[in-house]
Amino acid sequence: MKGRVYLVGAGPGDPELLTLKALKTLRSADVVLHDELVSAEILALIPSSASVISVGKRGGRPSISQQEINRLLVEYGWLGLSVVRLKGGDPFIFGRGGEELEAVRQAGLECEIVPGITAALGAVSSIQVPLTHRDAASSLLLISGHRAHEVGIQLSHADLAKTTVVIYMPGQNYSRIQKELISAGMAGETPCAIVSQATTRYEKTYQTCVSELHNSPELPSPTLLVIGETVRFAKPATTLNAISLQEHASERVVEAR
Ligand SMILES: C[S@@+](CC[C@H](N)C(=O)[O-])C[C@H]1O[C@@H](n2cnc3c(N)ncnc32)[C@H](O)[C@@H]1O
Repeated sequence: MKGRVYLVGAGPGDPELLTLKALKTLRSADVVLHDELVSAEILALIPSSASVISVGKRGGRPSISQQEINRLLVEYGWLGLSVVRLKGGDPFIFGRGGEELEAVRQAGLECEIVPGITAALGAVSSIQVPLTHRDAASSLLLISGHRAHEVGIQLSHADLAKTTVVIYMPGQNYSRIQKELISAGMAGETPCAIVSQATTRYEKTYQTCVSELHNSPELPSPTLLVIGETVRFAKPATTLNAISLQEHASERVVEAR
């Protein structure tokens, strides 16, 4: 009998942001292959009867290849097991979920996708920044900063004054990203926020503007960079026990509650 493979989004970190469907799928899993970013609280929800395998990328240590992950999904599926591939955020946003789906389909196995709350949604909810707003942004761009030189290319077709841009995997080289943003036409005074470990108890936010981005501190990964007029709506620092809010929020690190 053939098994079934589930690509499940674990959300950005807070276990309460796991969907009921993700929880139900985890509870009936025989094998769970999870990313490094999936929190310990969420892993604790996996029944002890299931085998749990970490297939995440770990800083400095060799990580399991995508090909090997695909092979494991198919191998366990062919053993007739209920296989959960538990991924940070949403499986189809910068998570190589599409490649895993293809591998499972090509092997003739059934695949089901359980969406998760992507990091951008978790981060902006925490700092209370609406991604769209009738007066400030009518579009949203999720891009990867992994290859910094491509940031500008990805922005070149957007109406930057009316777009909220969220950069996943921004790295720590903010000078480079700043240059790309400016040369793509982004105004220097556009507010932005770096959100570190969003929705976890370690969450930190640094607020600045594009022209000051190069002075940003290194915050612990994972981090996201949110840029756009909507960042002006960020929750006032006073309600987050933090440094006071300045106009254009030039130098502000906000600790989570
Ligand atoms: C490989 S991508 C996976 C994204 C994931 N599939 C999602 O939908 O959120 C990993 C990147 O997501 C972002 N990320 C994931 N979790 C985060 C969190 N809790 N806080 C801030 N950024 C996060 C970071 O930019 C990180 O480098």
